[in-house]
Amino acid sequence: MSQSPKTLIAGNWKMNGLTKDLAQFEAVVTALNEKPAPDCQVLLCPPVTILAGASQICQNSALQTGAQNTHVAESGAHTGDIGATMLRDAGADFIIVGHSERRADHQETDGVVNAKARSCLNAGLIPIICVGETHAERTSGLALTVVEHQLNGSVPDFDEGQEIVIAYEPVWAIGTGLVPDTNDITNMHAAIREWLVTRFGERGKGVRILYGGSLKPSNAAEILPIPNVNGGLIGGASLKSEDFLGIVYTV
Ligand code: PGA
Repeated sequence: MSQSPKTLIAGNWKMNGLTKDLAQFEAVVTALNEKPAPDCQVLLCPPVTILAGASQICQNSALQTGAQNTHVAESGAHTGDIGATMLRDAGADFIIVGHSERRADHQETDGVVNAKARSCLNAGLIPIICVGETHAERTSGLALTVVEHQLNGSVPDFDEGQEIVIAYEPVWAIGTGLVPDTNDITNMHAAIREWLVTRFGERGKGVRILYGGSLKPSNAAEILPIPNVNGGLIGGASLKSEDFLGIVYTV
């Protein structure tokens, strides 16, 4: 993997989106066709109900699709669950794992997140592994410690030829309009890079570290150029193609 990885702009639609909203995928595909963003890999993760439809729209385009969660097992007696191979079959290239909303809503521990990330790798998919501190942890000066602890528990080993992505998302910045100041993002991303290089050596330099939490067209030009910020994970501003493309075209 190259030492300065390509910027990844990834949208996370969360529990939003009906069939009619596939029009947003069509709009992004058309825009990227007409005005390519060659320095940027572009990904949208819709709810699983429209993943296959979205992936069909994205075929042979510069827009890729991903999922927001996976079961740890490939298949089996797990009513209502979906495994990584099934998500790949529906067209996913990436799967978000360990988002703070899943850690909170479904009590996902670092161990579970680690197992989910491994199941993505086993299915030939790229896990986007989310970490981030709460507001209380940030104000008590524990942000770096908490994130390091999450990385230790959540990030699996990966082989040559496989890829992982880390997303740093301060919980207090998600959906709130609040963002950490530039210095705090710089320091956290540098610490995550150091952790990756300590753990994986040279390969750790090629792992992309995304920033997520209230990233918008209006702040993207300030946040995305920060050293070791290799892209963004975007919730609210990924739902409308104009906002999402506004971020893509700042890269
Ligand atoms: P937000 O969400 O951009 O709406 O803050 C980011 C995320 O949760 O991935």
